[in-house]
Amino acid sequence: MKREAFSSKIGLILAAAGSAVGLGNIWKFPYIAGENGGGAFLLIYLACVIVFGVPLIMMELYIGKRSRKSPYGAFRALSGSGRWQWLSWLCVLTAVLIMGFYFVVTGWCFSYLSEALIGGFRGMSTDTLAEHFTAVTANTPRMLVFSILPVLVTSAVAWFAINKGIERMSKLLMPMLLLIMLIMVIRVLMLEGSMSGLRFFLHADFSKITPDVFIQAMGQCFFSLSIGMGTLVTYGSYMPQEQSLSQASVQVVILDTLVAFLAGVIIFPAVFSFGFNPAEGPQLVFVVLPAIFEQMSFSWLSGVLFFLLLGIAAITSTISLMEVVVAFIGEATATTRHPLNRRTSVCIVTGIAVVLVVLCLLQQTAFSVFEQLTANYLMPLGALCMSVLVGWTLSRPDEAAYLNEKGFQPWMVKAFSFVLRWVVPAMILLVFLHGLNLF
Ligand code: TRP
Repeated sequence: MKREAFSSKIGLILAAAGSAVGLGNIWKFPYIAGENGGGAFLLIYLACVIVFGVPLIMMELYIGKRSRKSPYGAFRALSGSGRWQWLSWLCVLTAVLIMGFYFVVTGWCFSYLSEALIGGFRGMSTDTLAEHFTAVTANTPRMLVFSILPVLVTSAVAWFAINKGIERMSKLLMPMLLLIMLIMVIRVLMLEGSMSGLRFFLHADFSKITPDVFIQAMGQCFFSLSIGMGTLVTYGSYMPQEQSLSQASVQVVILDTLVAFLAGVIIFPAVFSFGFNPAEGPQLVFVVLPAIFEQMSFSWLSGVLFFLLLGIAAITSTISLMEVVVAFIGEATATTRHPLNRRTSVCIVTGIAVVLVVLCLLQQTAFSVFEQLTANYLMPLGALCMSVLVGWTLSRPDEAAYLNEKGFQPWMVKAFSFVLRWVVPAMILLVFLHGLNLF
């Protein structure tokens, strides 16, 4: 059977950028940057994205595009043996665990969107909003409804497969996301006092730059670009043959970084303009921002647009998460006596997602364990292993020849495989050791 592929280059770019752009960009990036030297952090982040982000995205897309398979078959095809099979299990395990907590956070966004729509934050101060956040997230029946809703939306997209599902949704949602961001940037920059917020975000304070900040920037780069769990391998397997790997990687990185940057441009001026504390950390999005919107003119519209933005960013990411597992099941059962078609796989994955969501809702521990384990250990580990595999595979001249796309010089292939073999593993080990608190 012929493998379905994205119908256009832009289809792949928007789908991959949709996976990368998520809560990590809008919620996490601004406050990490704000706390770690603003503009100075931004520069380091940019360096990380260029040195690791681009090669690692290119590596994952390459694995998929070359083998036309999702991680289950791709590592086998690339290494020529079953020795790397376990790596595909690692990818799918990571995807399943991320689904558990990511759907819950997506549920918070949906729940806040529904409240913003009915004007539910009217007259609330940050104190009431903080209590409100605790109460809402502890309300299990409500959260159950709002977390299972995005599971069903995601399943519906997966059901319609690549062109009619993922590609069509990405082409609809990503432009919407960028448009909403632009509207909000303009709105926020018109606020009085917005410039001091911008100054806080962009002022380069190099005194705050410690080795620790480098490592944080690197971790954020991996997480934000969805590297290390086979999402981009899977999407790469649907990549049009004529699309350039290097160009696609650069385009995805630019989009992801642009959204993170714009999120900072939206959040800090708003925070400063209304005299809130920018170091509110994780609470910023669900507690401080609704309070700010209440004080703005067009408060209803601002709140609705912002939570719609979060919801869209989250959904395009969950779509890619589910696709990893769906493609895996299809491929893993293809040669058995009971091959499962896409729709059966989608039903199975939906079931798994619901079980994990319920688990995360009932057990706060499950939520935190899944969150920490995936971002700090499983994703870097996956990236490390893939980079070693590809780095060494590329030493075969026939493989390297494959990368000689237009404008790609032979020395670039050499540099690419050097980065994958040595630089990336060394850096990931650093992040690991940091995660283990050995520094
Ligand atoms: N990149 C996503 C974000 O910025 C988070 C993420 C990490 C992710 N790995 C993923 C999303 C895999 C989808 C699939 O929020």
